[in-house]
Amino acid sequence: MKKVNLAVVGATGMVGRTFLKVLEEKDLPIENFYVFASKRSAGQTLTFKNKEYVVEELTEHSFDRGIDVALFSAGGSVSEKFAPIAASKGCIVIDNSSQWRMDPEVPLVVPEVNPEDIKLNKGIIANPNCSTIQAVVSLKPLADKYDIKRVVYSTYQAVSGAGMAGWKDLENGLKGEDPKKFPHPIAGNCIPHIDVFMDDGYTKEEKKMIDETKKILHNDNLKVTATTVRVPVFNSHSESINVEFNKDFDINELKETLKNAPGIVLTDDPSKDVYPLALDAAGTDEVYVGRVRRDESVDSGVNLWVVADNIRKGAATNAVQIAEIVINSMQ
Ligand code: A2P
Repeated sequence: MKKVNLAVVGATGMVGRTFLKVLEEKDLPIENFYVFASKRSAGQTLTFKNKEYVVEELTEHSFDRGIDVALFSAGGSVSEKFAPIAASKGCIVIDNSSQWRMDPEVPLVVPEVNPEDIKLNKGIIANPNCSTIQAVVSLKPLADKYDIKRVVYSTYQAVSGAGMAGWKDLENGLKGEDPKKFPHPIAGNCIPHIDVFMDDGYTKEEKKMIDETKKILHNDNLKVTATTVRVPVFNSHSESINVEFNKDFDINELKETLKNAPGIVLTDDPSKDVYPLALDAAGTDEVYVGRVRRDESVDSGVNLWVVADNIRKGAATNAVQIAEIVINSMQ
């Protein structure tokens, strides 16, 4: 198997470190490996496959050495500037920021949902928003079978989604310290505010879920709305998803459809208190779906509770799965 040169940009961050972990676990064929971050971290070392790698400052010349694939998670402005530079040097960028997601030239990919879009890339492939990834994994088999009309998302999102600074706000908040990252204390609280507010009263996180769901499911006519909330959970996002269909369904058949779909673990036995939980999902790559029940308030609808590790499936694992497909296509 041909080995590739692979780089991680933002390697010292919450998602960046998980890129390294997931890359190790998946054992992709890597020849040379590079880790980039800001000037602040240059010179630090990171361990990958029992070897130490020195963190380099990301510069315009970082990609002048035949890097085949780069995983980016260093924020939107870094991706805006450096992803096109990397792509111009022949590197395929898999970008975890929101910078390129809605660009019509850039595929937005969840491998269980729309892997066929990867081949349309012109050098940049976008990794969707963490909340969107787990949602569309659960919606795709239902969209194929019952034709979705409308989706209502309500999210319960972990602090790790806001990076190291978000994690520290909860850790320190539990000790009584004031928040530094969030606008309010997160310990003992629920904050209905993720990313910035827009003029229409929605937050950007909500807009991302709405727009990205339509793009990934290839359905501009889908009606989607969302309320996204930060909760005092360290890791794993939970989501209540209300779905309305154009076709009718049988609830047992619908559960069977979810159970057999790629990437999903149906976790649904209320009689034994079994349903998806953030603590159980943490550290795994699956999307857990439970509390599956008919919405009696509409002709054809269902309620789902969907949980996944937002740093793994919601970011690093999804990106590495894309990298795996890209590398296989280079063979
Ligand atoms: P650094 O650790 O040097 O600041 P998180 O979201 O968990 O805080 O992680 C953000 C990641 O993005 C870190 O690895 C951070 O590196 C990196 N990063 C931030 N700004 C830049 C930049 N200007 N150039 C390269 N990497 C950056």
